[in-house]
Amino acid sequence: MKRIAVLTSGGDAPGMNAAIRAVTRVGIYRGLEVVGIRRGYEGLLEGDAIPLTQSSVGGIIHHGGTILRTARSERFKRSEGVTEGFTRLKEMDVDALVVIGGEGSFKGAWELEKRGFPTVGVPGTIDNDCAGTDETIGYDTAVNTALEAVKKLRDTASSHDRLFIIEVMGRNSGFIALQVALAGGAECVLLPEVPLDVEKVCQKLNYAKRRGKTHSLIIVAEGVMSAQELAGKILDTGGYESRITVLGHIQRGGSPTAFDAVLGSRLGAHAVEALLGGKSGVMAGVTCGQVTTCPLPETWENKKRPDLSLLELLNALSI
Ligand code: F6P
Repeated sequence: MKRIAVLTSGGDAPGMNAAIRAVTRVGIYRGLEVVGIRRGYEGLLEGDAIPLTQSSVGGIIHHGGTILRTARSERFKRSEGVTEGFTRLKEMDVDALVVIGGEGSFKGAWELEKRGFPTVGVPGTIDNDCAGTDETIGYDTAVNTALEAVKKLRDTASSHDRLFIIEVMGRNSGFIALQVALAGGAECVLLPEVPLDVEKVCQKLNYAKRRGKTHSLIIVAEGVMSAQELAGKILDTGGYESRITVLGHIQRGGSPTAFDAVLGSRLGAHAVEALLGGKSGVMAGVTCGQVTTCPLPETWENKKRPDLSLLELLNALSI
């Protein structure tokens, strides 16, 4: 193996730059040439590639977003798109590809692998919904970003004796919502993994009000429903005047936390080592503190769920 390529695909996540830097620097250190493909699979289809050097990835470890930019490619979901991508990679004279992204990106990587092109995945998504790794790159930063916002909302909620319904990202997963709710001292959290019980939410709000709590916070994962829709369902707020806030894409931006910068560095490096060790069709992950690899299809076939015992803990702490 002489030359490898790296791309970022799907939603950006803080810490992706640390992973790009690690792929590049470890690759060069191990005698490889490294090429960066811009705008994910879309850029691949257009042959949009740049050489990456030790210095071109300097000063990026603490930057949010991805220097390679990213895209959600509809064309690459089709068989002809994958075949075209395979041809472009051959034209670029690269021997293997590192894909930094989430489930959709890994499905694309697996299609290339099945056609005989060695690929390794690095989990980069704020949603933390990839099996085969305890955390994905960007999740920790997103949780901390959302938590900062929740703390600010608590200030105004308590000043006005209000209920705030706060919608967080996560697609179909409740990892961000649960973590933010627990760390932010919310009264309720609604997760896609747990059937919605509006009656219980109303009871909780009433109980909080009777107990003398002057304000309340509900965190709702976007995979359950929007904050707006939920507000329409909570007909009895226990007397609290309510407001809604959608945190939105702010959760994807900002400098990575130390945890994500380190995770991105470790996983980027491990992806290169896996390729050099003859492994492909796998994702680099961290399990119980150790770097590991698992077959790409397992990352989406084995559904990863948040630890629901934390939900019980939240219920106990918020009464
Ligand atoms: O997968 C990351 C994520 O931010 C999800 O949490 C969210 O549902 C989605 O991407 C939003 O995608 P887009 O940026 O395309 O609107």
